[in-house]
Amino acid sequence: MCGIIGYTGEGDPVMDVLMTGLSGLEYRGYDSAGVAVTDRARSSGDVSLFKREGELSSLEAALPDGSVDGAAGIGHTRWSTHGPPSDANAHPHTDCTGQVAVVHNGIIENFRELREDLESAGHDFESETDTEVVPHLIEDALAAGESPEEAFRTAVARLEGSYAVAAVVAGDETVYAARHESPLVLGVGEAGHFLASDVPAFIEYTDRVIYLDDGEFATVTPDGVSVTDARGNTIETSVETIAWDPEDAGKSGYDHYMLKEIYEQPDAIRGCLRERVAELSGSVEIPELDGISTTIPTVDARDGRPRPIQFVACGTSYHAALYGARLLRDRGVPAQCFIASEYATERVPVSEGTTVVGVTQSGETADTMRALREAGRAGAETLAVTNVVGSSAARECDHVVYIRAGPEIGVAATKTFASQQVALSMLAAALTDGGSQGLVQSLRAIPDGIQRVLDESDAREIAREYVDSDAYFFIGRGYDAPVSLEGALKMKEITYKHAEGFPAGELKHGPLALVTDRTPVFATITDHAEGDVSKTLGNVKEVEARGAPVVAVTDRRDLVEPFADHVLEVPSIGPAQTPILANVQLQLVSYWVANELGRSIDKPRNLAKSVTVE
Ligand code: M6R
Repeated sequence: MCGIIGYTGEGDPVMDVLMTGLSGLEYRGYDSAGVAVTDRARSSGDVSLFKREGELSSLEAALPDGSVDGAAGIGHTRWSTHGPPSDANAHPHTDCTGQVAVVHNGIIENFRELREDLESAGHDFESETDTEVVPHLIEDALAAGESPEEAFRTAVARLEGSYAVAAVVAGDETVYAARHESPLVLGVGEAGHFLASDVPAFIEYTDRVIYLDDGEFATVTPDGVSVTDARGNTIETSVETIAWDPEDAGKSGYDHYMLKEIYEQPDAIRGCLRERVAELSGSVEIPELDGISTTIPTVDARDGRPRPIQFVACGTSYHAALYGARLLRDRGVPAQCFIASEYATERVPVSEGTTVVGVTQSGETADTMRALREAGRAGAETLAVTNVVGSSAARECDHVVYIRAGPEIGVAATKTFASQQVALSMLAAALTDGGSQGLVQSLRAIPDGIQRVLDESDAREIAREYVDSDAYFFIGRGYDAPVSLEGALKMKEITYKHAEGFPAGELKHGPLALVTDRTPVFATITDHAEGDVSKTLGNVKEVEARGAPVVAVTDRRDLVEPFADHVLEVPSIGPAQTPILANVQLQLVSYWVANELGRSIDKPRNLAKSVTVE
């Protein structure tokens, strides 16, 4: 997904800061990149502009030898929406005079009308993007005698849709920015100031941040930052210090962020549980939700009937939501799960007392945000389960529970999935029976259980054996079913090989036709419900009879081994918690298959970390 960096100040050279910022944004996924800097002489003149399709290395190669000095600059990593990846479609975009440069995330819905108006007024366009209308609108306002700041506001006032937009004007040392439904955060430094789509872009320089809200404008000058509303009234903001250590954003010796993040899971879970579970009393308390049971009761005080909870989420977060919904149903709460992009279109009836939980690691996923906003408008109480402090979901929902996984850079979600499952386990307990000693013991056993899997896994050998397979299937029942869906998503995402996950019982209703001796079946069989193990073993026999190799991921080696070609063992820590460990085995298998195939593991083709378009 697109990323923005902006900088002005007397510290490091502008171009160096922009390039560092762009590499900090690479994790979001991109297909082209560019930078624009204004002249330090503060006289009029062109904006220096460099942009290239492809990776940052292509942009670096396009820069002149030696650093380009400048007063202020903006940079962008683009993930195509309007127009394919190309040098011309890469941001920044400029006006006819070359004096104005603009970067943008989001979608300008009325760009066709604006472009037609501007073209008939004589403006020339060079790209197919929606963004390019913005510098031309600024150009017109400047020509009408407005100051750069006024001209920027005039242009933004014409835009419909979603945007985080930033601009620089030749002869000026200010970066102008505005936000509507696409994230922007300001960085307050010692010798210069920043703006970006996300903190990793400037974390190397400062940890002091101001989050912009929808409808807000920012001017970033060498002397400071100021935030105003659409009319130009000053908005009082507070500077927050964030806890992320720049070291956390490095690979710490691992070949890929994904592998590092898989290995970080024990610590991530410890962080998620910290001060939320008490072993002696067996109680689960989430301090952020103090008093929540009065605003989100799971039982209606008038008639004693359980109140509904709906989950909305996408991708891996949807799989975590499936897990969370099952936990609540098992506690007697009517919980449903929706793919966020389908929620609004289904016109889901939000009855009185419904709580809608958005599960989203980034807190910015457009489909999830839309569903949460629709739910809020329909009168539901909304709750975000997210990793990113200050994200849109965190700020817009009525309540928020942080999963505390730390920064996740690999596009493939790993530690955030485990942390989501743990956070949802605590949420389900906090909203219902308040927990039990057994639950707390099982939750506390997860970090060591994952560590054992990481230390003892044979996933790499299995990956080597099956790297040339035609396809991979994943099956599991009950709490193992979301793990199977997630196992398949991970496999297809980073290996580019066909993979499908099914609740085990579904296999015989169609997918069995695809099973051959070249399609290994990963059967997650943990001991969580009476009868489930033997039923899934029945499904295993069905695939075996078609010649498929079977890899069982299980805490019941004794029962399962006779039916499987290989066993990936996990410790048994509790009916709903053992599947969290099984998922780690599947993450490792996918990682090692992708590694054997030499794939771009941290930035898989066509994918983005934070998907801010619908
Ligand atoms: O930030 P979110 O959790 O809302 O993101 C949702 C999906 O885009 C995300 O989980 C995606 O499926 C991941 N790439 C999976 O690894």
